[in-house]
Amino acid sequence: MSRRPLIAGNWKMNNTISEAVVLAQEISNEMEPDWLDHVDVAVCPPFTDLKPVWTVFDFDHLKVAVGAQNVYWEPSGAYTGEVSIPMLREIGCRYCIVGHSERRELFGETNEDVNRKVAALVAERVNPIRPIVCVGESLAVRDEGTYLEYVAAQVKAAFAGLDANDAADAVVAYEPIWAIGTGRTAAPEQAQEVCAAIRAQLAELFGEECAQGMRVLYGGSMNEGNASLLLAQPDIDGGLIGGASLKAKSFAAIVKEAL
Ligand code: 13P
Repeated sequence: MSRRPLIAGNWKMNNTISEAVVLAQEISNEMEPDWLDHVDVAVCPPFTDLKPVWTVFDFDHLKVAVGAQNVYWEPSGAYTGEVSIPMLREIGCRYCIVGHSERRELFGETNEDVNRKVAALVAERVNPIRPIVCVGESLAVRDEGTYLEYVAAQVKAAFAGLDANDAADAVVAYEPIWAIGTGRTAAPEQAQEVCAAIRAQLAELFGEECAQGMRVLYGGSMNEGNASLLLAQPDIDGGLIGGASLKAKSFAAIVKEAL
């Protein structure tokens, strides 16, 4: 089955509104509209930038989606500092990163939190916000040699209690922690090995047909120089890009590699 590639930029905690609008406009200028007939593109800026960035792409009639970097699972209430799914939906978000390793490591997010967020996102079928569920092992786990089991367990936990209908629109991103922001990209074969294991785990949970339709991305020091070999792997359906997504030319060049 051929899956439509997805290139998503994770801006992390970068760019004030004025900076975000400039970067979004630069991305819009670099992007050929017909590319978007063949590849899905999303940028995930900080919450404060979501609407202004959405507005730039909307004004240019460019089908670049916006996504959030996090969400809370309750729809409203006394949860100081949190942002809900209805809030993201009204802004026009189409994706939401869930369980990024920085959230797990720096903010104590657990597998159970990730599962609650994924379940809340996929429960809404109208104007869905697709979760981009991040998994990936530390260097210690890689060196131990147990990384395939570790990542498979993260996938299982993230989707606990969900069925194939719930999971079909979700995206999984394999982001080895040792490759994030380090300039040390996983070799294409290393990334392929884990992405194939993720798909096998999805098949075990939801059946082969569902797993073959779901997108599995790679993330971790992906750039215009290494994207083409990574994206050529059979189980890698796109990229979740950090640093290189903050430069319009680099981000557009990666999108072009996915065509
Ligand atoms: P870098 O591309 O900067 O390594 O970041 C990857 C990442 O964490 C995307 O979510």
